[in-house]
Amino acid sequence: MCGSGTTLVEYKLTGRNGIGVDINKNSIMLTRDRLNFSYETIDNSIPKTTQKTYIGDARNLNKIETESIDLIATHPPYANIIPYSKERIEGDLSNVHSIKEFAEEMKDVARECFRVLKPNHFCAILIGDTRRNLHYVPVAFRTLNSFLEVGFILREDIIKHQWQCKSTPYWVKKSMESNFLMIMHEHLFIFRKPAENEKLNKYKESMF
Ligand SMILES: C[S@@+](CC[C@H](N)C(=O)[O-])C[C@H]1O[C@@H](n2cnc3c(N)ncnc32)[C@H](O)[C@@H]1O
Repeated sequence: MCGSGTTLVEYKLTGRNGIGVDINKNSIMLTRDRLNFSYETIDNSIPKTTQKTYIGDARNLNKIETESIDLIATHPPYANIIPYSKERIEGDLSNVHSIKEFAEEMKDVARECFRVLKPNHFCAILIGDTRRNLHYVPVAFRTLNSFLEVGFILREDIIKHQWQCKSTPYWVKKSMESNFLMIMHEHLFIFRKPAENEKLNKYKESMF
């Protein structure tokens, strides 16, 4: 779900090798284009990295070996709030309207993340909510549950404050006209895959 490649650009700048997967060929092309830069640090302290990309489905990361990944940083669509493919690519989760169905698909994503991540390592996922028929739709919390259900434990819920977006003036007007509060945050959930043989009872009592 690497989109236009921001995460891989940051990996390159911070000396991490990366693998970017996206279901949309155009995203992968854009990501490759964005990665096409070179830079130097004054003291050469950032190692040269390899950024690999491929067109694939996050629900089936079959090109990635089990327990081979040190860190997952992903940014799924928020159900169908923003459709990322006009031509309705098969498997593009930004085409899924039903929140229940979206949470089920995200459970498959979570399962694959769990499989490829090394034990006792972190999986970060940025996700937000939406509003339909004036009511609040908790996309993020449904997704959080999907990740807990496959065995992750929640280490942090970091709130990313959203303001001054391109669409903000539209939503300010709309919220005043229809009397609802604007959604001005996203969640950056940081999950941890338990270590091998880790006793989980203390977490289970509070999370499940
Ligand atoms: C919120 S965007 C990611 C934006 C990204 N952080 C960036 O910097 O541009 C979500 C991405 O998920 C991709 N996507 C949707 N369903 C997918 C799936 N099943 N597997 C992989 N990628 C998927 C979309 O094509 C889109 O590029």
